[in-house]
Amino acid sequence: MSLSLLAGCTSFDSLLEGKEVLVGTQHAAKTAVPQMVDYDMDWNEFFKKDPDDGEEDLASVEDDTQGAANEEQPEEPADEEKPEAPAETSEPDAIPVVANPGAMNVMVNKFWSLPEGYRPGDLIKPNVPFSFGDENSDRAKLRAEAAESLEVMFQVAKGEGIELYARSGFRSYETQDAIFKNEVATFGYEQAVLYVALPGTSEHQTGLAMDITAKSVGLELVEKFEGTAEGKWLADNAHHYGFILRYPKGKTNITGYAFEPWHFRYVGVDIAGEIYAKGITLEEYLGDVREF
Ligand code: DAL
Ligand code: ZN
Repeated sequence: MSLSLLAGCTSFDSLLEGKEVLVGTQHAAKTAVPQMVDYDMDWNEFFKKDPDDGEEDLASVEDDTQGAANEEQPEEPADEEKPEAPAETSEPDAIPVVANPGAMNVMVNKFWSLPEGYRPGDLIKPNVPFSFGDENSDRAKLRAEAAESLEVMFQVAKGEGIELYARSGFRSYETQDAIFKNEVATFGYEQAVLYVALPGTSEHQTGLAMDITAKSVGLELVEKFEGTAEGKWLADNAHHYGFILRYPKGKTNITGYAFEPWHFRYVGVDIAGEIYAKGITLEEYLGDVREF
């Protein structure tokens, strides 16, 4: 993975300025600047599977990777004590690999990637409503600590009349690769890199990120979620449960991504509280800001 791939990531402001930002397949045909991740599409074509093998779906492809990945990537102990920028451990011409992939405060972004084949060993399915119904797939899972906290957050929200739906949790490297390629094919590279991480650099692969939506926006991932009761509740309360709004509005020059009011990242209650109180990003919290 070459750093030259990042070259298309530099003109975010010009890409976003003055544009109506709608995210969702149902809007794609109606807007001049559609930005969408169709997480629900059939990804099998991207895995170039045998056409005769009609029974295999994405979930089974991902399950196939689990055993090998777990053998190669034993879970590392969490290191939440000290906010440190990760150490560079990879070859100079690749995106540097984080040294702490299993830490709750791990930072993966356009400058830091996960170890090849990384897959956390403690993924579980939280007991929350999902936009896609009841299925035991990767996208329904988070790492145990994050999953348990997500459950509490959804329960408290429900008690306050806020009905949340989880839509996209863990993604393997292969799934992220498929999503990224589809986004490039549909909207072009410059738009793709604003909304979708290159494989190996997505927070979804850490098992600590969940995209959250609501019926008020048709269970889609759209920017107008920000203005809904559910989006506001999450933005105001997620930190109490250890989650941060990872790609805030106006921080594209630091995060490298457009505003995503649906993407919540678990970092633990202490860090989330500080990031919320200071109105900063994970990059700023860890002191590793590289402006685009
Ligand atoms: N949408 C975020 C950036 C991801 O693809 O991980
Ligand atoms: Zn996300």
